[in-house]
Amino acid sequence: MRILVVGAGATGGYFGGRLLQAGRDVTFLVRPNRARVLRERGLRIAGLGEQTVLEPALVLAGEIEGPYDLILLTVKESGLAAAVEDLAPAVGPGTLIVPILNGMRQVDLLVDRFGEDAVLGGIAYVMTTLDDFGDVQRLAPMHRLAYGRRDGVLDDRVRAVHETLSDAGFDTVLSDRILGAMWSKWTFISSLGAVNVLGGGSVGEVAAAAGGKALAEAVLGEGAAVAAAAGHPVPEAEIDGYRTMLTKDGSPDTSSLFRDLNAGLPVEAEQIFGDLVARAEGYGVPVPLLSAATVRLRVHNANIGKPVAVNPT
Ligand SMILES: NC(=O)c1ccc[n+]([C@@H]2O[C@H](COP(=O)([O-])OP(=O)(O)OC[C@H]3O[C@@H](n4cnc5c(N)ncnc54)[C@H](OP(=O)(O)O)[C@@H]3O)[C@@H](O)[C@H]2O)c1
Repeated sequence: MRILVVGAGATGGYFGGRLLQAGRDVTFLVRPNRARVLRERGLRIAGLGEQTVLEPALVLAGEIEGPYDLILLTVKESGLAAAVEDLAPAVGPGTLIVPILNGMRQVDLLVDRFGEDAVLGGIAYVMTTLDDFGDVQRLAPMHRLAYGRRDGVLDDRVRAVHETLSDAGFDTVLSDRILGAMWSKWTFISSLGAVNVLGGGSVGEVAAAAGGKALAEAVLGEGAAVAAAAGHPVPEAEIDGYRTMLTKDGSPDTSSLFRDLNAGLPVEAEQIFGDLVARAEGYGVPVPLLSAATVRLRVHNANIGKPVAVNPT
């Protein structure tokens, strides 16, 4: 199975690298700067005692030859629209695309561009980041990809994808409720982000402040209400687990979005928040806390690169 991994960042570099290590036929679609780094240093996976160096096959946009069987889409919000156009020459009648971004916008964009049949649901459960050298750093042992047809049917094509992705050095799940799982993860990610962004600290710091746990419960309630209105209610046991994680005394947990915010980097304001709020409005579900977090993140993105304003008074 010919696999094209679109993006060789923290997630694409990790899962694509593992597939390459396991001998799968993998090519990375990258942009020129990333191609230069990968040619100079190789694709490096480090952390948790590992130091792996791989020599990946690379293509730039405009160089793609022929259709691929499987495409893993691993870009962030800021690269999504352009990446969908860049990967188009790789899509043939039999191609299946697994997007692993958090949220749901990517599914709508891909379905609009390539049709219902080409697009699977997907989720990455991993904690990786690119370091200053451009190497993939693993931050936690968890490494799992879940995917499946959005209608839940386990047909031969999706089983073939599962066979190709499995036994490649990370865990895989062929899901018959991938949309539900995506909504569940979205509910958690947006709630964790909102607790950090609105509370201004880690889970434990927010929990220690009077009203902090109530804030966490309230944002989780908002996200869960949107998922339910979308027809994908998050199972009660999962909500209970999220509530425990989001109100845990002493927890150092922060979302990567909050860490990016504090580092002055762009954040996935629309992918993880703006789109959720827009869907909530469409369903008539009030989400004042998620809306407030969205505004905060939009202002942050808009201010990147601008000089800090100083009030002369
Ligand atoms: N990292 C995690 O632990 C994690 C876990 C679960 C889910 N996620 C989600 O996974 C998604 C990807 O996150 P990430 O952490 O992998 O981001 P990332 O490290 O920023 O990697 C994204 C990569 O996409 C590349 N890219 C953007 N547009 C492209 C294009 N048109 N063609 C080829 N490459 C392109 C970027 O390359 P350039 O170098 O050219 O900019 C970058 O290397 C996000 O939605 C995130 O929320 C991340």
